[in-house]
Amino acid sequence: MSATIKIAPSILASDFAKLGEEIRAIEAGGADYVHIDVMDGHFAPNLTFGPPVISAIRKVTDLPFDVHLMIDPAQPSLAQYADAGADIITVHAEADIHLDRSLQVIRSLGKKAGVSLNPATPPSAIEYVLGSVDQILIMTVNPGFGGQSFMTGQLEKIRTIRSMIGDRPIDLEVDGGINTETIAAVVKAGANVLVAGSAVFSGRDYAKNIEDLRHAAA
Ligand code: DX5
Ligand code: ZN
Repeated sequence: MSATIKIAPSILASDFAKLGEEIRAIEAGGADYVHIDVMDGHFAPNLTFGPPVISAIRKVTDLPFDVHLMIDPAQPSLAQYADAGADIITVHAEADIHLDRSLQVIRSLGKKAGVSLNPATPPSAIEYVLGSVDQILIMTVNPGFGGQSFMTGQLEKIRTIRSMIGDRPIDLEVDGGINTETIAAVVKAGANVLVAGSAVFSGRDYAKNIEDLRHAAA
């Protein structure tokens, strides 16, 4: 596992009225990824943004777009997200009935493939797709909203999946309730990519918020 961690601010927590500015600010503040939470109001109880918004903000930055699809089905629209500018496309193991095929489609589009698990879903759900993914995203809140509390019961799942990964080149990303209080335990458990929405987009100094997270993780 790479020693350096990656910080992926979730724009769900940003000011949508000035989305381009917000993305420039986190890029200047040292973000590694832009985490884009796509929700369809069906798989997740919220409706956020889709390909048109993603292609609009693609012009604003060269940072990798880490697109988290909380949609069901995901397979029919994977090409749209790839064309819109996604670099990593993460689908939920609980969405679609053909997870392996979705992951193959993402890679055939030339993008990195990710799979995400909701809090109630066991690690065994991804046991047979470890050869088809570049990233595993563990939810430490129930999908839908930023600003929820971190679910400490997921730490054991993070440890389990880190050991399942072994020496495969797979990033372990954690998403939900990550802040300066929770990040150290999550990194210790094996995560190397940390999604943070409210912890980054609070106050005005995003660079300091990102720096504080890196410091707290060390
Ligand atoms: C929740 C989203 C998370 C969320 C994280 O459905 O997938 O990415 O935006 O926000 P915070 O960091 O505020 O918990
Ligand atoms: Zn997310």
